[in-house]
Amino acid sequence: MTRGRNVPERLSAARGWLRRVRRPLGLPTRGKTASGRLRRADQFLSLAYPFTLRNLRAPIVDLGFGASPTTTLESLEVLRVLNPSVRLIGVEIDPDRVRAALPFAQEGLEFRLGGFNLPLGEGETAGVIRAMNVLRQYPEQEYGRSLGLLGSYLAPGGILLEGTSDPPGNMMALNLYVRGSGYLLHDGLALIANLRHPFSPRQFQAILPKNLIHHLEPGSPLDAFFGAWSVCWQRAMQTEVRDRRRLFAEAAGHLHEEHGYHLSPRPSFLRRGILLLHSVPGEALAPLVLARVR
Ligand SMILES: C[S@@+](CC[C@H](N)C(=O)[O-])C[C@H]1O[C@@H](n2cnc3c(N)ncnc32)[C@H](O)[C@@H]1O
Repeated sequence: MTRGRNVPERLSAARGWLRRVRRPLGLPTRGKTASGRLRRADQFLSLAYPFTLRNLRAPIVDLGFGASPTTTLESLEVLRVLNPSVRLIGVEIDPDRVRAALPFAQEGLEFRLGGFNLPLGEGETAGVIRAMNVLRQYPEQEYGRSLGLLGSYLAPGGILLEGTSDPPGNMMALNLYVRGSGYLLHDGLALIANLRHPFSPRQFQAILPKNLIHHLEPGSPLDAFFGAWSVCWQRAMQTEVRDRRRLFAEAAGHLHEEHGYHLSPRPSFLRRGILLLHSVPGEALAPLVLARVR
């Protein structure tokens, strides 16, 4: 790195160097996955970004698909409905897992060995990157750097979906990032629950992504948010209504109107148990611009 450069230039040079490193960056971690685990992430992506998906030219990268490529195959099936020519690249840092996935490769789906420095060709970009249950296994201080590196592979306007779930995928938290010009912008946080099961807002605390899970101390903005949501949920539960989908929407309405959280009011989200919190500049819950990407 050359002395005398300003900080953004030095960061950008370091990122350029990281991208050129051939060794996959990161470490193989537990490969646990399950059929249907990421179904809610596929559904959310299709609902939230239909235009982007229908018009995708660059491939979708599924980073860290795990011990078996089940969820990647399931995603292909779902996303093909919106875009029959969609291309998926499953990326794993564990060579045995890539070998085990290769027999499942097919038209529109390939598997590659790689890490945070994605194994894309020169000039190749990703339209969407999904990293589910991957960054949670790394220290928090590595979160921003890994995200910035991943973001540098996105095509302009590309989407990075980084999140966590419980083992069967009944509870899910998705950080949404969009690549702007030189920045990766936090576009929102989607908290998704399977409303066929008993539900309470604080259940999400156990499965939050790495950038949030260590920030739940009493009195923190996150603690206040879950406290407010719990109050609204309890109040909705005290009404005659028994349908959890209606209760969920009602509680979300109170959360917005009485506590001022910026939530998507879309019925198609709420009836599926999706609470989408928008990032609003200056607000306590908004992580905002996280990383500069080049
Ligand atoms: C817990 S599994 C998640 C599997 C699947 N995405 C899911 O949510 O069910 C995490 C996988 O990510 C892989 N992994 C961890 N760090 C990685 C990295 N930097 N690049 C690519 N794969 C990585 C691990 O080897 C592991 O197989």
